[in-house]
Amino acid sequence: MNFKAELVACFGQPVAENPTGVMQEAAFAAAGLNWRYLTVEVPPAGLSDAVRGARAMGFQGFNCTIPHKVAVVPFLDELSKEAKIIGAVNTVRREGSRFIGENTDGKGFLRGLTQDAQMDPAGKRVVLLGAGGAARAIATELLLAGVAELIVVNRSVDRVAPMVDDLKPYGPIRYVPWRVHYEVRPETDLLINATSLGLYPNVDWMPDVDLSRAQCLVADAVFNPPVTKFLAAAQARGLKTLDGLTMLVYQGVIGFEMWTGVKPDEGVMKRTLLDAMVKS
Ligand SMILES: NC(=O)c1ccc[n+]([C@@H]2O[C@H](COP(=O)([O-])OP(=O)(O)OC[C@H]3O[C@@H](n4cnc5c(N)ncnc54)[C@H](OP(=O)(O)O)[C@@H]3O)[C@@H](O)[C@H]2O)c1
Repeated sequence: MNFKAELVACFGQPVAENPTGVMQEAAFAAAGLNWRYLTVEVPPAGLSDAVRGARAMGFQGFNCTIPHKVAVVPFLDELSKEAKIIGAVNTVRREGSRFIGENTDGKGFLRGLTQDAQMDPAGKRVVLLGAGGAARAIATELLLAGVAELIVVNRSVDRVAPMVDDLKPYGPIRYVPWRVHYEVRPETDLLINATSLGLYPNVDWMPDVDLSRAQCLVADAVFNPPVTKFLAAAQARGLKTLDGLTMLVYQGVIGFEMWTGVKPDEGVMKRTLLDAMVKS
């Protein structure tokens, strides 16, 4: 008999509306694992104690969300290569008594790109809208995957210039300040919205881009709603699309694999997440 469950968690503030726990618990149950995922409100001043508590209680790992993705770094024992480049951690896994910081946001995007959209990013020309945390994670993975060109388009130069400087050692990246609407050229293979434009409740907002000559795959990091106004506009032009819900599910799938060493039922995770979003 073993009545002890293995524990993982999400530390964030606010965290109550984060649906990751519902998705992970459904996957644990489907895999027959006695694991629990706790969604825990942790204020910035409590983060160090929360990580010490997780160590003391033998947690297998945890997710970090706003505002802890950068702040958690000093409390960890090691970072993966990607998390080091990105400078932020969204998933922590345990190796013996050590906590290793990982970043699965960009990896989740890449898995959706290769598995669902069937696009190998190597040699592709990419336009990335945004220079926040999600954009950094996606840009890092795309550069490591060998894209031919990565143009980052962002409103504030103050944010995009340091990001491009940091990532230059890893591949052909440059930025364009977002002044008026950005015209996507026919030779672009992949266009990604990694800004928060279109995120619920501002569902009528969308990036100011001209798609009239575009022939690319259009992806969105925004997952709520799953079909954003931006993706709907691309679909209306006959362009293929990849939604942010796919990225969210795959970053969770990768976290699950890192923690348990088991491949989860991806269908269960996606359906549970969609259900949770419809109900909320
Ligand atoms: N699907 C997933 O798994 C996943 C994972 C992580 C994040 N996300 C989503 O990705 C989006 C970005 O998240 P984040 O963490 O990167 O946010 P963030 O760090 O706050 O960055 C926000 C980005 O959006 C831009 N932006 C915001 N309002 C804008 C406007 N009115 N016009 C032009 N640009 C605007 C910002 O530009 P400035 O620099 O000019 O302010 C910045 O580049 C969110 O919707 C989040 O939910 C999805």
